[in-house]
Amino acid sequence: MATTMKLSKIISSATEITADMSPESGGGAGGSATLRRRVLTATLFFAAIAVPFFFLNNTAYPFLLLRGSSSMENEGGNLGRILKEAAMEDKSVIITTLNEAWATPGSVFDLFLESFRIGNQTHGLVDHLVVVALDQKAYNRCLELHPHCFLLTTGDVDFSGGEKYFMSPDYLKMMWRRILFLRSVLQLGYNFVFTDADIMWFRDPFPRFYKDADFQISCDRFNGNSLDSNNCPNGGFTYVKSNKRTIEFYKLWYLSRKSYPGLHDQDVLNMIKHQTSITKIGLKMRFLSTTYFGGFCEISKDLNQVCTMHANCCVGLDRKVHDLKLMLEDWRKYVSLPVAMKRSKPSSWRVPQVCLETFHQAPLKRDAPKGKKGN
Ligand SMILES: *[C@@H]1O[C@H](CO)[C@@H](O)[C@H](O)[C@H]1NC(C)=O
Repeated sequence: MATTMKLSKIISSATEITADMSPESGGGAGGSATLRRRVLTATLFFAAIAVPFFFLNNTAYPFLLLRGSSSMENEGGNLGRILKEAAMEDKSVIITTLNEAWATPGSVFDLFLESFRIGNQTHGLVDHLVVVALDQKAYNRCLELHPHCFLLTTGDVDFSGGEKYFMSPDYLKMMWRRILFLRSVLQLGYNFVFTDADIMWFRDPFPRFYKDADFQISCDRFNGNSLDSNNCPNGGFTYVKSNKRTIEFYKLWYLSRKSYPGLHDQDVLNMIKHQTSITKIGLKMRFLSTTYFGGFCEISKDLNQVCTMHANCCVGLDRKVHDLKLMLEDWRKYVSLPVAMKRSKPSSWRVPQVCLETFHQAPLKRDAPKGKKGN
C-alpha cells in the first residue's frame, strides 16, 4: 500500500536520524547541540509531514490504509477458509460480487445462478463459486441460495442503496474495492475467474482459456488478435493466475487510480495496458474473443460455441434483467433443438433488445472511455 509504505518510510527515516544521535556518534558539548538540533529536526519533520499525511489519508481512504496485506482482508481466516472450501484442485475459484439490488429475488443474481443450471456442463462449476456480498442484505440472500458467501465490509461506504449509478462516486469505490479484494485472493495463492453476475454461463470456459497467460480478460469488442492491447477489455470477466507477476500487476493497477482520478478500474486498465511497467513486470496478458465470451456490445454469434454472455452496453437494471431473461429463453430454445438442427441451422440471439435502445439514447455514457457502460 502506497500510503502505508510512505508512512513507514517517513517513520524509518525519522528513526535513522534518531539512531544517529547515539552517545557514540555525539560526544562533547558541540556534539550535544548538534544532537538537540537533530532531535528537533526529526520531531518537526515527523509532526509536519508524517502525521498530517497519516490523517489525511486515513480520512480519505479509511479502509485502504489498513488493508495493505492479505491478512487484513482475511480477518479471522474467514476468507481463506471460504476460498479453500470452494477451490478446485488447482486452487482456482470463480468469484462474483453482489449488492442488494442485484440480489433481490427475480433480479440478476437469480438469473446468474439459473444460467449455471441450464448451461452445458456448467452445473458443477457453482460448487467453486464464491459470492462476495457488498452489503448485509446481499449477504443474507446469498446464504439462502449458496454455500460460499463472503461479506466484504468496507467501513465508510454503503454499497447497498439500490442500483449504483454508473460512474457515481460510490460506483467507483465499489469497483476499486473489487480490485483490492482480488489482489488479496491472489496473495492467498488462489487463481480466480472473476465474473460479473450479469454474465450468463452457458459452457465451461476453462477449455477456452490460454494455458500460458497470467491475466486474461474479456472484451467489449475483439479485434481478432488476443495479444493486441488495442482491444477494448471489459473487467467484468477475467481469469487470473496467482503468481508474483499478477500480484505486482494488481498492485500497479490499484495504485494507478491515483494518477487518473475519477476513472474506474477498467478505464485505468486502458491507460496502463500498453505501459512499459507491464512489460517490466513481465505480465502475460491475453484478450478473450467475443466468439466465446460475448456480450451485448458484441454478441457471441454462434450458440454452438458461446461460453458466456455479458449484459454489457446496457444502461439500467430493469432493462438488463429484461434482456437477460430473453437471453436465457433463447438458450433454452437452442438446447431443446435436436442435435442435427443445432449444427445445421445456426441459432441466433434476440438480444440486445431494450438494452440496445437505451444504450443508443445515452450518448454521454457511450462516449465514456472504452468501458463496460452501465455496468
Ligand atoms: C454439451 O457438451 C457435451 C460435452 O462437451 C457435448 O457433447 C454436447 O454436444 C454439448 N451440447 C451442447 C448443446 O452444446
